[in-house]
Amino acid sequence: MSNKNQVRIFDTTLRDGEQAPGFSMTSGQKLAMAEALEGLGVDVIEAGFAAASPGDFDAIKKIAEMVKDSTVCSLARCMESDIRASGEAIKPAKSGRIHTFIATSPLHREFKLKMSKDEIVARAIRGIEICREYTDDVEFSAEDAIRTERDYLKRVVEAAIKAGATTINIPDTVGYTTPEEIRDLFHFLTTEIEGADEAIFSAHCHDDLGLAVANSLAAVRGGARQVECALNGIGERAGNCATEEVIMALNTRKDFYGFTTGIKTEGIYAASKLLATITGNPVPRNKAIVGKNAFAHESGIHQHGVLANRETYEIMRPEDVGVSTDNLVLGKHSGRAALKNRAEKLGFELSDNQLQSVFVAFKALADEKKEVFDADIEALILGEAVGAAGPWTIDSLYVSAGSDEARKPVATVKLTHEDGRAVTAVSEAAGPVNAVFMAISEVTGHPLHLDSFSVQSVTEGEDAMAEASVLVSTEFDSFHGRGASTDTVLAGAKAYLDVINRIERRADRERPIAAQH
Ligand code: KIV
Ligand code: ZN
Repeated sequence: MSNKNQVRIFDTTLRDGEQAPGFSMTSGQKLAMAEALEGLGVDVIEAGFAAASPGDFDAIKKIAEMVKDSTVCSLARCMESDIRASGEAIKPAKSGRIHTFIATSPLHREFKLKMSKDEIVARAIRGIEICREYTDDVEFSAEDAIRTERDYLKRVVEAAIKAGATTINIPDTVGYTTPEEIRDLFHFLTTEIEGADEAIFSAHCHDDLGLAVANSLAAVRGGARQVECALNGIGERAGNCATEEVIMALNTRKDFYGFTTGIKTEGIYAASKLLATITGNPVPRNKAIVGKNAFAHESGIHQHGVLANRETYEIMRPEDVGVSTDNLVLGKHSGRAALKNRAEKLGFELSDNQLQSVFVAFKALADEKKEVFDADIEALILGEAVGAAGPWTIDSLYVSAGSDEARKPVATVKLTHEDGRAVTAVSEAAGPVNAVFMAISEVTGHPLHLDSFSVQSVTEGEDAMAEASVLVSTEFDSFHGRGASTDTVLAGAKAYLDVINRIERRADRERPIAAQH
């Protein structure tokens, strides 16, 4: 539980983050992410929007059954059916919260809800009362609070607290506010509202102007004691306040803010990588805290300074966020215990089953490579997380390529589907990778438009692991995919198939109700 100098971290990676285009996750992937978030020590995991679809409901319920150390929360519109679905989904949780919301700004009142001010207050009160039938832990959000008249927002919040809301969330739904404005608003709400002491005030900032983290920190200065955020800053449109950034800002500048969080920051890098792998959206190199360059010192002047005293150019230590700096080498004689130990150093807690499958993959890699580096191990662990999510897997792949103009590259690809099918296709194209992609498209029946394809070596040397990323588009959407192997073409094939698997999994769990925002 938080103390009075602690800011609660409410992570919405699995709700606001997951509802953004290109970031959907299967139930199994959501469970894996929830485990990582619990491991980080977030106070609240917003696990989804129970009424959105049966798939969302099941995922929340499973997370509620599994998670013990964080509160598990489900979002609900201020509607009886939504709230009851959330109440049922969080029932198994050791600590469960319902987060109910209704819009309060003039634009939303007039054009979206077509409701009067009084009707909205009445709906909020009734919604909170129904929430309280399921749990004492009720969060109320006044959607688009930032663009709501102050006197009306005050009225709504006072009514919500009286009705039994224990957390009051003030969302900047459209990412419109500025640090000075939101600080002032939180100061007003936490000092002027009757009953303010009975509730925790929370900030939920979107990043449309690139201010989500700055605004959340300013809200804390104004009186917020909960921050809503998502790993890697994912979320609607430009995303939410980035979990890793707000946590590290509070930690690094504790001298200024005077608050802590309950987060075990050494798990941040692994959790961010896991999310990037699961969703197929790589983290940009220059991303604060978790980007590849975040702790890299390229220029001679910087390197010299850091060698003399790291604080000359480093405000945080890489190991504080779980970025490993010693890069120990493992080889084919290394055992399971050494691998487990290395994985832990990299921020991954592996179950016995996970360790077993990563160990098998590690042995196969160690046979191909003399030395296995941290980045290889990370790619193997994350590969296991992605690889588990079919339905298609690569059974075999052969490619011919060369400089002979008269003979085009040919790929023969055999895939198996979890329903038992095994299908082979042979394709010819101008390049070997294209030939592989075409063969995969033929087998799976997904003709895709390839927007980009890139390969990066994970480590150095001739036998380095390759990590491939593809971006493809369909008529309605675009998808990222990722694959890793010591064979570049196979890495590309895995990345392309990762996209097709995402498309098929999404079709399986089509949402009947779009999450209202
Ligand atoms: O941005 C927003 O207003 C939301 C609410 C549902 C809290 O995500
Ligand atoms: Zn939001």
